[in-house]
Amino acid sequence: MKRVLLIGAIALLAACSKQQPAAHAADAGKGPPPPPYQMRPEFPGGNRMAATSDGKTLFEYHCGYCHLTGGMGTNLLTKQRMAAGEPPEMGLLANRKDLTPDYVKTVVRHGKNAMPPQTKVDLTDPELDAVALYLGKAK
Ligand code: HEC
Repeated sequence: MKRVLLIGAIALLAACSKQQPAAHAADAGKGPPPPPYQMRPEFPGGNRMAATSDGKTLFEYHCGYCHLTGGMGTNLLTKQRMAAGEPPEMGLLANRKDLTPDYVKTVVRHGKNAMPPQTKVDLTDPELDAVALYLGKAK
């Protein structure tokens, strides 16, 4: 019985692997897929910080789709800040003066309410350090 199952599994695997080229037939002639971003020329040696170590740029790149104007993070935080009697522009994290680097790092790694935790793949520790200093420095 075990042997029958094993042979069945192997046959299934073989059938699946034969289907691979067919599944990619639609991509034929388009050339190989691009390398993973860590291996692209703009990140020599897989060092993403080689492209930039500027906290503002990294913040806009990694957090901007939620925390620049119109982002869902900005929209939610604007509501919160206005409820606390502050002007609407305080919804933008870049305008905040009360954030410390440690607080930023904690929120990023653990998430907060509607904000999902950001992993080390989303943002490496050195990238997060730069972002936390940008947002959390005394302004
Ligand atoms: C998927 C959208 C999303 C992304 C990506 C995101 N955030 Fe957020 N963030 C939110 C939301 C939504 C909130 C508001 C949470 C709440 O309801 O209190 C928030 C809250 C925060 C707060 C807390 C502000 C406060 O007043 O306590 C900090 C700090 C923060 N985000 C930093 C970051 C940083 C830095 C990044 C990038 C590494 C990032 N976030 C990426 C959605 C996001």
